[in-house]
Amino acid sequence: MKICCIGAGYVGGPTMAMIAEKCHDIEVHVVDLNADRIAAWNSDTLPVYEPGLSEIVERRINKNLFFSTEVKPTIKDADVIFISVGTPTKSYGVGAGSAADMGFVEGCARMIAEVCEGPKIIVEKSTVPVRTAELVQDVFNGYDKGHLFQILSNPEFLAEGTAISDLESPDRVLIGGEMSEAGKEAMETVVSVYNRWVPRERIITTNVWSSELSKLVANAFLAQRVSSINSISAVCEATGANVDEVANAIGMDSRIGSKFLKASVGFGGSCFQKDILNLVYLCEHFGLPDVATYWRQVLDMNDYQRQRFTRNVIHSLYNTVQRKRVAILGFAFKKDTNDTRESAAIYICRDLLEEGANIAVYDPQVSADEIHGLTSDKVEVCSSAEEAVAGAHAILVLTEWDEFKTLDYKAMYETMVKPARLFDGRNILDIEALRELGYEASGIGKG
Ligand code: UDX
Ligand code: ADP
Repeated sequence: MKICCIGAGYVGGPTMAMIAEKCHDIEVHVVDLNADRIAAWNSDTLPVYEPGLSEIVERRINKNLFFSTEVKPTIKDADVIFISVGTPTKSYGVGAGSAADMGFVEGCARMIAEVCEGPKIIVEKSTVPVRTAELVQDVFNGYDKGHLFQILSNPEFLAEGTAISDLESPDRVLIGGEMSEAGKEAMETVVSVYNRWVPRERIITTNVWSSELSKLVANAFLAQRVSSINSISAVCEATGANVDEVANAIGMDSRIGSKFLKASVGFGGSCFQKDILNLVYLCEHFGLPDVATYWRQVLDMNDYQRQRFTRNVIHSLYNTVQRKRVAILGFAFKKDTNDTRESAAIYICRDLLEEGANIAVYDPQVSADEIHGLTSDKVEVCSSAEEAVAGAHAILVLTEWDEFKTLDYKAMYETMVKPARLFDGRNILDIEALRELGYEASGIGKG
């Protein structure tokens, strides 16, 4: 069997590496139009940082895992084609700010229709709005090739930073397809790939729309938990309750569960906001404005949390950050990834820059170019936490990297402008211990 995946990003790259690792008899090709990205996959410095990924790529590359820019011939040759291209939120025209830009998916569908002559299974892997399969089918029909293809939906549930373990033992694999004989056969083909390492009872098959919608709903529910606990963090700060203690107390109720209850400066990443916006757009489209309003609140709460954090920082620095040095520790949207999409750090840096602050950023994995591109070239990008903190009025911990837990905060305190402030936007530090060192320290939901 030959698999081709269009799109060598955070989803396509790791997922295909895992298939290649688990199925040595399957040829797995990952293609992308972006030549720099493909060159990086073929080099020692992969474009995606993910614990455990480089070892797998190293083992399988040029054995049964190939990265290339030869998009058309590879598609033509494949039995199964995964579409794993970006679906960013539209920034222009109809649906701007909430609908997904389906241009890349449409581009793939057209390319497949142009070059393929025999039957293929097409698998949507990208997070897509509900009814994308219909769009893809429509394009194929336009080329009179609709009968050649079976379109499946196989949403990816991996979380960045834990992609390899999520792929290795997923809670479930979801495959949606047409309920016809041909549809079922196509689903069985993809089931048989995952079944090499995922127990059959964890692989569920549904109709296409359920599969597409389930992905949006899963992310909406997860994001809703984060917004819920973040809303409570504000109440905790006002009342003297401790949000970690509240989260622990409610999380031990097995009906609630303990995961995704960590109060933070706000969720980021490429999925949560985009998927909720997709859900909101869908609800509005189908005349369900109350449902749309309900889910939009999850995003409003996330905006509120980021703004509240920045306001607290400014307030504690005597209501002005003009020309004050603010050290930002962490720029990625969560630890163990170099991805910055929708990272809270972007919003916080932007607001502080507007207030006239001098910002010094350190992140162990995010490149200086990336940070400059998202903030401004006035931002100083540092190569260590100590360098960022020296001479600063305040430290803002915005990503929960493990190395930030064990920094020498005592030595760093000595290099700061007094009174030295520390804001833990990820609730990873021992605030009491930091106060003992002399910091005016606070964590989300802990005052
Ligand atoms: C998410 C889903 O978890 C995954 O299943 C889906 O396929 C893609 O979207 P991802 O965005 O990579 O994955 O990371 P996730 O671990 O879900 O975190 C998202 C954001 O929420 C991060 O900014 C994280 O820091 C934040 N978060 C998470 C919290 O603030 N508190 C929590 O308790 C959990
Ligand atoms: P994700 O997080 O969903 O993986 P990314 O933006 O990281 O999203 O990756 C999507 C990739 O898809 C990009 O590298 C982009 O160059 C690639 N891509 C988009 N359209 C096409 C296309 N028509 N053919 C090949 N690659 C494409």
